[in-house]
Amino acid sequence: EKGGFPHFTLKEIFEQPKSLRDAMRGRINAEKNHLVLGGLIEYQQKLINADRIIILGCGTSWHAGLVGEYLFEEFARIPVEVEYASEFRYRNPVIREGDVVIAISQSGETADTLAAVELAKSKGAIIFGVCNVVGSSIPRATHAGAYIHAGPEIGVASTKAFTGQITVLTMMALIIGRAKGTITESKFQELITELTTIPDKVEYILHKVDSQIKYIAEEFKGARNFLYLGRGFNFPVALEGALKLKEISYIHAEGYPAAEMKHGPIALIDENMPVVFIAPKDSTYEKIVSNVQEIKARKGRIIAVVNEGDKEIKDLAEFTIEIPQTHEAFSPILTVIPLQLLSYYIATHLVDDVDKPRNLAKSVTVE
Ligand code: F6R
Repeated sequence: EKGGFPHFTLKEIFEQPKSLRDAMRGRINAEKNHLVLGGLIEYQQKLINADRIIILGCGTSWHAGLVGEYLFEEFARIPVEVEYASEFRYRNPVIREGDVVIAISQSGETADTLAAVELAKSKGAIIFGVCNVVGSSIPRATHAGAYIHAGPEIGVASTKAFTGQITVLTMMALIIGRAKGTITESKFQELITELTTIPDKVEYILHKVDSQIKYIAEEFKGARNFLYLGRGFNFPVALEGALKLKEISYIHAEGYPAAEMKHGPIALIDENMPVVFIAPKDSTYEKIVSNVQEIKARKGRIIAVVNEGDKEIKDLAEFTIEIPQTHEAFSPILTVIPLQLLSYYIATHLVDDVDKPRNLAKSVTVE
């Protein structure tokens, strides 16, 4: 049932080329310039006319929501707020006419997310679900939605659901942007063409970096702390990389926007601190190069996820993991792959059952 893999977690990481193809199947056809999410159609106009989008989720799903914030703002020019479901539900949140809520949940059963959906509904909001488990409670409570079609995710650490959630949010943002005219038809064509190459690029990365990351994991299995730094679209990936490491290897890790370093965490840097940079060549690249230099000057041990052909960061880092280029908005789906593998391989040295880390449950149905 693990398909020859030692753990479900690794199997699910390697399933991503397929799960991402499944997320797009029947929805995108780049040659025909076609992108439709069937489950959205009935309420799509609400999203197009939204004054604001509120995205709700917990854990990894909340991280996917943060990527969604960048996507909706970039492509659809709609302001977005991303909220922990648990915080949202216990405040007295302001929900106005014209607000649209998107709830993200792999299991569709997370108690806080479900309660937040019910609360928003009681205040008159239209709610979209982005879920994996078909027929679960959250999709039943929402007005409309799109499944990510990742297939069963058994490892407690969410991997293929995260990339599936981002893929569905990307499709939503592109549909809305096209309908609103915030992206031109030619840009739209170019973007969906690129999006359909993502599963192949994920497949390429998995095979290219697997043994290198095993080696890096050996090298860092004794570390007690890690920092993950990214900017822009890859700031949420820094958070996700840190969460993956914490939950399956029990190593303390924090993710930060790279520019926040100088506001405190830089005090932690010494020759024992591994720092993982997520630094593809995008609009923030030059800024992140300076951040890498700041860490280097303080002797931090630098691991960097960069694009193939990178020179500047390669010269500074102890290890660089090279991935192919894509549009900056799609890069989180690629950059998170090496981070999932890194957590997994470090965890295999330290933890009995990577699929079932201590104290965690696959779906958190209690608050
Ligand atoms: C992280 C993880 C958790 C879940 C969170 C939300 O790997 O598994 O942080 O992401 O409990 O779960 P869902 O998406 O089922 O609502």
